[in-house]
Amino acid sequence: MSENVLFNQGQIISSKYDFSKAYLSAELFKKKDSNGPEPSANQPEKITLNDGNEIPLIGFGTYTLTGGAGVNTMMQALSTGYRALDSAVNYENEGAVGEVIRRTSLSRENLFITSKLPGRHQRFDEAIATIQESLYRMHLDYFDLYLIHWPNPIEDHYVEAWQALIKAQKMGLIRSIGVSNFLPEHLERLEKETGVLPVVNQVELHPYWSQAKQRQFDKDHGIFTQAWSPLGRANTVLQDKTIQKIAEAHNKSIAQIILRWELQLGVGVIPKSSSSKRQFENLDLFNFELSEKEVSSILALDKSDGRTNNQDPATYQEF
Ligand SMILES: NC(=O)c1ccc[n+]([C@@H]2O[C@H](COP(=O)([O-])OP(=O)(O)OC[C@H]3O[C@@H](n4cnc5c(N)ncnc54)[C@H](OP(=O)(O)O)[C@@H]3O)[C@@H](O)[C@H]2O)c1
Repeated sequence: MSENVLFNQGQIISSKYDFSKAYLSAELFKKKDSNGPEPSANQPEKITLNDGNEIPLIGFGTYTLTGGAGVNTMMQALSTGYRALDSAVNYENEGAVGEVIRRTSLSRENLFITSKLPGRHQRFDEAIATIQESLYRMHLDYFDLYLIHWPNPIEDHYVEAWQALIKAQKMGLIRSIGVSNFLPEHLERLEKETGVLPVVNQVELHPYWSQAKQRQFDKDHGIFTQAWSPLGRANTVLQDKTIQKIAEAHNKSIAQIILRWELQLGVGVIPKSSSSKRQFENLDLFNFELSEKEVSSILALDKSDGRTNNQDPATYQEF
């Protein structure tokens, strides 16, 4: 699937990866993890990123999951079949993720761990130290994926931060390097000033904010788009009448229709749920398919002010 992708000292020369068909090969129920705690645990299908590394199409969001309760919820998620945990320095749960990694019988190679660099540490030396601190907190030797959390363009240190991620990758601290909340202008600048593009861009994406332009830009540049708040953080989208009708037609929940729609757009998803029933529901996406008309009707729900918390990366900054 990643043919025609050539690399030269870490720089992408040509990227023709088509993420949009990735979901088609997924068969949720066919795989069993030989090292897993649960014989029935099912792994979400993976796709290959532009750097040759694999990433699960469905990961588990961990925002708000902290302390002992957070550990229990994440352990439940691994038992349900999730293998990717999406954390961040600013979620203050890298310790809890580290505890989950220590407790699980899954081997390190069967887990996919992501964390994110906060805005306050985008200076080169601080960024390297922060990545190392993240690793120490999780008792890990490497991250599968590390992202710059927000570009913070007014501060204007994101290129320096990106150079630090490139260096950390060369040091073996990170397998795949990516960004979050980056607009085309930020990505173009990274490419122009460093010659290296991210392989992942994690952005807000759900039916009321479907990100057509950003998805196209990412795809054209071989960047895999991953949706944060893929369920709109359980806002009114979960009562949407159009999606409800589609859900009834497929005998699925509204949440499942939304997540399946995102997969069919070629986007990865990282839903968070504290309920084991909903965790399972959010993985159970590979035994039905939306028609082109259904995909289009959900795309038509896009709103010009559809962001959940009005966080425009051109102006919003997070530290
Ligand atoms: N890079 C960034 O800037 C950024 C920003 C925000 C989030 N994120 C990442 O993205 C992850 C997901 O986003 P999110 O946590 O903001 O929101 P989300 O996953 O869109 O929604 C989570 C909410 O949906 C509910 N829910 C989950 N599954 C459901 C289902 N099947 N049916 C009904 N309700 C359901 C959850 O409630 P229950 O827990 O009760 O099930 C929770 O209230 C985060 O956890 C974090 O890892 C990244």
